[in-house]
Amino acid sequence: MDKFIQGCMRIKDLTTAQVRELIDANLEEGINVFDHADIYGGGECETLFGRALKEAPQLRDKIILQTKGGIVKDLSCHRYDNSANYLIDCVHKSLKRLGVEKVDRFLIHRPDSLFNPEETAKAFDKLSQEGAVNEFGVSNFAGSQIALLQSSCKQKIRYNQVRVSIFHCPMIEYGVNYNRYNDAGVNRDGGTLDYCRLNEVQIQCYSPYKGKKKSFVGDIKYPKLNKLLKELAFKYGVTPNAIAAAWLLKHPAGFAVINGTTQPNRVKQIAKAKDITLTRGEWYELYQSLGRKLP
Ligand SMILES: NC(=O)c1ccc[n+]([C@@H]2O[C@H](COP(=O)([O-])OP(=O)(O)OC[C@H]3O[C@@H](n4cnc5c(N)ncnc54)[C@H](OP(=O)(O)O)[C@@H]3O)[C@@H](O)[C@H]2O)c1
Repeated sequence: MDKFIQGCMRIKDLTTAQVRELIDANLEEGINVFDHADIYGGGECETLFGRALKEAPQLRDKIILQTKGGIVKDLSCHRYDNSANYLIDCVHKSLKRLGVEKVDRFLIHRPDSLFNPEETAKAFDKLSQEGAVNEFGVSNFAGSQIALLQSSCKQKIRYNQVRVSIFHCPMIEYGVNYNRYNDAGVNRDGGTLDYCRLNEVQIQCYSPYKGKKKSFVGDIKYPKLNKLLKELAFKYGVTPNAIAAAWLLKHPAGFAVINGTTQPNRVKQIAKAKDITLTRGEWYELYQSLGRKLP
């Protein structure tokens, strides 16, 4: 199971050489999964990554390419489309931009209210048959929505990419507040965490360091959390970001953490989280450091 993934949503303004440095920094840390989407940078992120691969074709066999599609960035009407023809077209366009014959993984970016699982399944069949995609997954899907789609698909849905961090974790809060009248007891997760664990769907945590607008790491608005992140960083000899990653990696669901940084040095520092295990006490203390209460 992946522990870390490099997110490519923010690479648009890098040079090809900088993208190569980012790829190399990840590979040196044993991180070989690169997450894209057709909409990142309006397609520019995939194009740029494709350019880096063209300059160093030997990299293709060393990396796992993952992309997503299903969000329609139409200026007249922002919407989602999980219809077979739309998704097939998304993948074909991504392959072209990336300059590759296949992507290792394709994820449906967001659930479309109008999706028909039998029809979406046709896209998975076609993309598998033509060898364009190896594995499939979804993103921002509730467990019940994955179950609905899986009921029509021959291919296993292996991944669900969801926002999870110390800062944003309704799926974890619900688990400790079940059957309470408080706000955290509201089931916003639809049992997704448990569904994914029971059905071996790996949760890929996006925005692992993001607060409201900027990173919560180092943000003075969250003094208790940052004091604790710093103390633990000192204890384990890593950076506060690595502690935030270790908090996710401690969860027994086996989360993968998608780093969005474009700084090779930050990637390397965060990767040190693989070598530390927070205690239960530290994990719960971090959870409560944003004012969350345990029943
Ligand atoms: N499926 C979806 O709907 C969805 C949605 C959003 C994202 N994603 C995926 O998840 C990936 C990660 O998401 P993300 O980029 O939001 O995650 P993130 O890693 O939490 O955020 C990265 C941003 O936080 C900054 N940052 C991190 N640590 C910092 C610190 N200590 N001090 C100051 N700034 C800090 C980074 O700046 P630096 O570059 O300077 O380090 C970068 O701008 C994306 O690339 C994309 O692949 C998926």
